[in-house]
Amino acid sequence: MEATAGLARMHREALAEALLRHGRSSHALVQILRDVQQSLGWLSRAILEELASALDMSLAHLQGVASFYRFLHLEPVGRYRVLFSDNITDRMLGSETLLAELCRRLGVASGEVRADGRVSVDRCSCTGMGDQGPALLVNHHHVITRLDAERVVQLAALIEADVPVAQWPSTWFEVADNVQRADVLLGAAMAPGAAIAAALARGDAGLVEEIKSSNLRGRGGAGFGTGLKWALCRQAPGEARWVVCNADEGEPGTFKDRVLLSRHAELLLEGMTVAALAVGARKGLVYLRGEYGYLRGPLLATLQRRRDQRLLGAAILGRPGFDFDVDIHVGAGAYVCGEESALIESLEGKRGVPRIRPPFPVERGYLGQPTTVNNVETLCAAAHIALRGAAWWAGIGTPKSTGTKIHSVSGDCARPGVYEYPFGTRIGRILEDCGARDTQAVQVGGPSGVCLSAFEFGRRIGFEDVPTAGAFMVFDRTRDMFEVARNFAHFFAHESCGFCTPCRVGTALVVRRLDKIAAGHGSRHDVDVLFELDKLMHATTHCGLGASACNPLRDTIAKFRPAYERHLTSLHFEPAFDLDAELSIARRLTGRDDAAAHLEDPS
Ligand SMILES: Cc1cc2nc3c(=O)[nH]c(=O)nc-3n(C[C@H](O)[C@H](O)[C@H](O)COP(=O)(O)O)c2cc1C
Ligand code: SF4
Repeated sequence: MEATAGLARMHREALAEALLRHGRSSHALVQILRDVQQSLGWLSRAILEELASALDMSLAHLQGVASFYRFLHLEPVGRYRVLFSDNITDRMLGSETLLAELCRRLGVASGEVRADGRVSVDRCSCTGMGDQGPALLVNHHHVITRLDAERVVQLAALIEADVPVAQWPSTWFEVADNVQRADVLLGAAMAPGAAIAAALARGDAGLVEEIKSSNLRGRGGAGFGTGLKWALCRQAPGEARWVVCNADEGEPGTFKDRVLLSRHAELLLEGMTVAALAVGARKGLVYLRGEYGYLRGPLLATLQRRRDQRLLGAAILGRPGFDFDVDIHVGAGAYVCGEESALIESLEGKRGVPRIRPPFPVERGYLGQPTTVNNVETLCAAAHIALRGAAWWAGIGTPKSTGTKIHSVSGDCARPGVYEYPFGTRIGRILEDCGARDTQAVQVGGPSGVCLSAFEFGRRIGFEDVPTAGAFMVFDRTRDMFEVARNFAHFFAHESCGFCTPCRVGTALVVRRLDKIAAGHGSRHDVDVLFELDKLMHATTHCGLGASACNPLRDTIAKFRPAYERHLTSLHFEPAFDLDAELSIARRLTGRDDAAAHLEDPS
């Protein structure tokens, strides 16, 4: 009786707190669910019913939204929920051995909750700590970097002793910026308001023209012209306009936005305000990936500081001032939410399923209004261009790829970290600078990007040659490129949102084939099937995730075929299972077990 009353009180308090913080708008649903879960551990049917009634929504809707996000749980999870980052670079640093050891010490199987409910241990997609892995997340928002055997022993002991995470050694949660090479974005400091003042002096139309003539192209991957995007947003009819900063950074091996957010938050907000002046927006949103939840506090502090700073007698953020303010929305563990239309769905409190386009977000984005979605690095670059002009920016890099690009360098190299170079820099130069030796391959732009082999290290970073969203993963000659591709295939299958069949089924079929090959049952036929799946998925999937899911396969099969052939048992056909054993039920039912009731041994 007392326990029931206690639970009801906890529910009431958790709901009241979340609703007070986020309001009762349906758009805040993902944020409310995150907060309620934070207080209660998981989202029981009872709490969802109460929330559904408070928000005047159906229970089915709430369950549908919550079930989309990997960091929201409709079943009980451990009070300590440990998630090991499962990028290939974490594996190369020994994450699998450390995970097995932690599970052994805690007496829990990976992917399960211990019987006493104390702890669960599992894997998650890349946490954006490739320069300081292996990494793990505790209860989704505490990131522990540079794991080693000693830390795992201490971690198990702290969990067994039920020590609150807040009392764990603070050095475990330190995230280093690891800036190894700075150029104009990572190097130069900018006085708060300087770019805004320069933008105001140009006027909104002049500002858009300046960004256009700088030829700044989006740093989120697609490389769309930023000036053109802003002009389209500005021209689109609407009652309100929105600036959205895409800080989802989910592409495995990418962590350069993490560094910009932690070191250059002022610059980012300056860029968002410049974008707002250009498109005529009064409100901005930062979509911060859940794994970077630890950056929310410092970002809120920077926002507050800017609300108190003056420029031309007005606050540089908020009202009264330039009448532009920014909110932060924290994601809940879904890579596809980096896709701009899925991101907008998520901002609106829905499942992060990519929208059918057109209409594009610049016409109908957040709440159906014209919205510019820009990557963190793009917005930082725009602030510099507003201040220093298009000609200065266009003088850096190459004619088609102006300015600099920040790379997240990880894997087999002596100095992992972030490196900023002018566009046009040779791959080989980056390898030299980061101390890579005996390099076999580089995965540029993450699993959705390209895999380059040694004969391509003279190629150059740029939209005209090797485009990139920022990841630069190095593999030396000891690495099995088949296993690299298999890790990426698992990533895509894990992150497919399931909305369209070619991707939902295709990514699973790719994983099945690769696992079959890894288990020693592969043949050339399986490799041919992978090629067919690539063609099919590239042509038929609904969004970029499915379209690029086979990129690593295509590249590694073409450039590292021996890595596959080493795993192949037969050059023709090899079944994934024992055909003769599969007939045992038929033999039992018919009572026959003579030689003729068995398949011939092909050997
Ligand atoms: C599956 C998928 C994931 C994406 N993830 C990100 C991301 O994490 N960050 C990002 O800026 N863009 C990401 N994008 C690209 C965005 O859709 C969009 O093009 C970008 O945010 C636009 O900003 P930009 O013009 O500054 O590049 C992703 C695209 C796809 C298809
Ligand atoms: S391609 Fe994949 S991620 Fe994209 S909508 Fe289809 S199922 Fe979802």
